[in-house]
Amino acid sequence: MDLRKTLEQAVAQLTSAAIGSPRMNAEVLLMFALGVDRAYLYAHAQRQLTPEEALRYEELIAERARGVPAQYITGHQEFWGMDFVVTPDVLIPRPETEHLLENALPLARALAHPRIVDVGTGSGCIAVVIAKVLPQAEVHATDISPAALEIARANSARHQLDRRIQFHQTDLLHGLPDQSFDFVLSNPPYVGESEEDQVQLEVRKFEPRHAVFAGPTGLEIIERLIPQAERALRPRGWLMMEISGSIASRVQKLLSSWTEVRLAEDLQGIPRIAIARKA
Ligand SMILES: C[S@@+](CC[C@H](N)C(=O)[O-])C[C@H]1O[C@@H](n2cnc3c(N)ncnc32)[C@H](O)[C@@H]1O
Repeated sequence: MDLRKTLEQAVAQLTSAAIGSPRMNAEVLLMFALGVDRAYLYAHAQRQLTPEEALRYEELIAERARGVPAQYITGHQEFWGMDFVVTPDVLIPRPETEHLLENALPLARALAHPRIVDVGTGSGCIAVVIAKVLPQAEVHATDISPAALEIARANSARHQLDRRIQFHQTDLLHGLPDQSFDFVLSNPPYVGESEEDQVQLEVRKFEPRHAVFAGPTGLEIIERLIPQAERALRPRGWLMMEISGSIASRVQKLLSSWTEVRLAEDLQGIPRIAIARKA
């Protein structure tokens, strides 16, 4: 069968399995199976697949049809224009998280040698981007999951930034020095177990639970992170956390003793980043 017909069949299979964006998924997986780019798929639409290629593609489409995210199948996700390796041990980096960097980078660039910590680093996407774009920064990254830290270390090494980031396996900021950071950045788990049925089935089934859910209300991690961040920050240091619209007002209340508190919205107009400055 040729590439065009193969793609058509895969799109039909993904559509009947109710997978969103079936064509995009079918193309991404065919590019991955053949090791080619999108232009190749269109330029060689008549090319026949070998039996091995056809079998491999069938297996990939079957995985996707049972809901496995394409990023866990290909093992890759782009974030801030950089390629990150992902496995089911880490959350797949999301475009919304780039807002954290959009808010932090201009302020961090104003400092000669900012000290920055990324709490709950997962794939390492935030820490790796910071280390790449701020060569003068001292960068730390924490995670409670040893498996996630392994992926974060691998990503830092792939981008030749492993010597720039100090990784710590710890609970939030436990064990890191007090009064020593200019920025505490975090995309913490912030979904409440009470909101579980509003979370996409693919996320619930395949992404690490401890990366998504904080506890019954969604605030359990943030409630502990705020006082720890206050201790870890230097005076006038910044705390920036990714949040969801459903916890925004409760997070604002928790930050009532901080200064310059504001919520930055994402492209959908949802409060997405809580920003606060230590007094
Ligand atoms: C929402 S994911 C964010 C991952 C990555 N920073 C990103 O933005 O894609 C949250 C991360 O926090 C980690 N985590 C959960 N509880 C933690 C804790 N108590 N201390 C440190 N890290 C924690 C999880 O293992 C997970 O990697």
